[in-house]
Amino acid sequence: MTLRSQIVGVGSYLPARIVTNQELEKSVDTTDAWIVERSGIRQRYIAAEGETTSDLAYEAAKEALANAGLTGADLDLIIVGTATPDHTFPATAARVQARLGMTKGFAFDLQAVCSGFIYALATADNFIKSGQVKTALVIGAETFSRILDWQDRGTCVLFGDGAGAVVLKAGEGQGTSADRGILSSHLHSDGRHYDLLYVDGGPSSTKTTGCVRMKGNEVFRHAVVNMAEVVGEALAANGLQASDIDWVVPHQANIRILEGTARKLGLPKERMVVTVDRHANTSAASIPLALAEAVKDGRIKQGQLLLLEAMGGGFTWGSCLVRF
Ligand code: COA
Repeated sequence: MTLRSQIVGVGSYLPARIVTNQELEKSVDTTDAWIVERSGIRQRYIAAEGETTSDLAYEAAKEALANAGLTGADLDLIIVGTATPDHTFPATAARVQARLGMTKGFAFDLQAVCSGFIYALATADNFIKSGQVKTALVIGAETFSRILDWQDRGTCVLFGDGAGAVVLKAGEGQGTSADRGILSSHLHSDGRHYDLLYVDGGPSSTKTTGCVRMKGNEVFRHAVVNMAEVVGEALAANGLQASDIDWVVPHQANIRILEGTARKLGLPKERMVVTVDRHANTSAASIPLALAEAVKDGRIKQGQLLLLEAMGGGFTWGSCLVRF
């Protein structure tokens, strides 16, 4: 028997306020046509004044737990993937833990920017596979609107706020790719590219929060190559072909990156879950938001093979192959 981390619940939350490209045209030198053509983004959700990352995370977590038929008291572990915590410390996960009424186990944040959900899922999977944890809640939650320079048209049009969550439960499998659960995870980072995508503030460098700075076209080039590589790596590790994948649930940064990855793999783009047009780039939240949407609308069904993949600042990148 092989221990497997099975996804038994999904949830998501988007703030109420939608900001369209047309609205941004009024405050920054850009056009709807440029944003749609270069990124595929048409709108984004922005958290209300006073609405924090832990608020978004809590709402997504509540829905995921209800979907799993569990409560906070059933959890052994919470990991929140976020680059926009409520405070420098304690972890945003601690706030979520308290609000969910979870008093045992442990909760922490994980920082891998846009790869945060993949890193968090892989980390929770390893806690489950080692036998240390039986039930885990993995959340990706961000309020990127708080770290954007709203005068920098190269970044402010690209990001949005939101949260998504999954509940993992230890189950048993035969050790084959037919098992339900996380079949493999592959994580990578390369710190030489730190300066291509970063926030120009932080407690130990400037004592300020700072804003996102990005060399967009250089990030783009790396993203297409890294995404195709991690997908190939996941398939090879499991003895599978691209044609075995039912759904790719990618990090949503740019429609051109998603389509480029699909082309490189020879995968029809209809098998990618796409939310970037409506959510924009929600960093660590984008994959669980997309996953929850496709599960709720019935596209993703139990037993299907899902490939989750992301790339973010650091650079960090990685994948999780999941039999849902
Ligand atoms: N509106 C209008 N023009 C804009 C603009 C905007 N919002 N933002 C940039 N431009 C301009 C630039 O100033 C530049 O003008 P110039 O040629 O006069 O200098 C021109 O558009 C092209 O800029 P460039 O950055 O080369 O465009 P691009 O085709 O690479 O598209 C991104 C820009 C950011 C959409 C694209 O590079 C991208 O998505 N990169 C990856 C981002 C990413 O994935 N980040 C997160 C990783 S997790």
